[in-house]
Amino acid sequence: MTRTPIHSRCTIEVHLDADDLARALRQDALDGLTAAAKHLPPKWFYDERGSELFDQITRLEEYYPTRCETEILRREAEAIAERTRATTLLELGSGTSTKTKLLLDALAVAGTLQRIVPFDVCEPVLRAAGPELAKRYPRARVDAVVGDFDRHLGRLPMEGTTLVAFLGGTIGNFGPAGRVKLLGELADQLAPGDWLLLGTDLVKAPERLVRAYDDAAGVTAEFNRNVLHVLNRELDGNLIPERFAHVARWDADEQWIEMHLRSEERQTARLEALDLDLTFGEGELLHTEISAKFTRHRIEGELAAAGLELDRLLTDAAGDFALSLARKP
Ligand code: SAH
Ligand code: TRP
Repeated sequence: MTRTPIHSRCTIEVHLDADDLARALRQDALDGLTAAAKHLPPKWFYDERGSELFDQITRLEEYYPTRCETEILRREAEAIAERTRATTLLELGSGTSTKTKLLLDALAVAGTLQRIVPFDVCEPVLRAAGPELAKRYPRARVDAVVGDFDRHLGRLPMEGTTLVAFLGGTIGNFGPAGRVKLLGELADQLAPGDWLLLGTDLVKAPERLVRAYDDAAGVTAEFNRNVLHVLNRELDGNLIPERFAHVARWDADEQWIEMHLRSEERQTARLEALDLDLTFGEGELLHTEISAKFTRHRIEGELAAAGLELDRLLTDAAGDFALSLARKP
């Protein structure tokens, strides 16, 4: 796999080119939309527009996780840098890496930072964020990787003492089995003495949880419907996104927020590229995402099951969100 320079100290390595993405989307759309309970994997939210909408979500009053995680990082970044003395910061699902700059600043001040590896499924966001990081950290190299958590974790470029940052509660977008697989594959990539900094949203009052995923301005609704725009564009479809309502609900048994698109009427649509005709009944749900919420006990257990030792579990003052620093023994 080749690393293409996009700045004097920034390269990009693309594990998912347009052909791969097209093939994977066709398969996911075919599997998910012909199933008895329709569903689509969440990675398809994140085209260029989806990444922009997510960035808007992080600034919404109702969406507390970003503010809480920022509060923890402001307070603890220096201690994390001193504790880990990492030379590489590898970030999974990095997006714009906005909060990550707090960690990177601290590693730069500690004088250990040599390399930054942002990893994301969204190529446009990395093409913008990579060179920006290179400019901000003149003593570091940036090697951006376009890849999919589900397929490319075995190909992470590891070197030096690595701190893997997996922020934003994105781990919660996997179900329990998916988390075991992801954390296991990640732990396999780590050398003894490497670190994982894992952001997880914590269980709290359902009203606040639901509001965070169903904001008054409708940005999250637009983000959810973006997956239909992606299908229309990539698979020559004629879905009408406005005919689908955004649904976010708390599943108390599973302890996760569930996101769906609900067909507001009986309707048909066609995906020409798949030669596929679709029917949605009135009120039929298309499942698009979960966002699992955690307890301390669960976080520690899942890290331990992957062979990682919890070093410190840090929360914001209100106890809404947790950042866990774990070490590969
Ligand atoms: N870390 C940022 C962004 C979180 S949103 C924050 O904390 O605010 C989730 C990020 O993960 C997005 O940037 C999205 O493009 C990326 N992502 C989602 N599914 C992915 C997958 N399967 N493989 C790689 N990246 C993925
Ligand atoms: N990782 C984010 C989270 O679970 C992703 C996210 C936030 C999201 N809001 C969303 C995903 C709305 C789908 C729909 O908090």
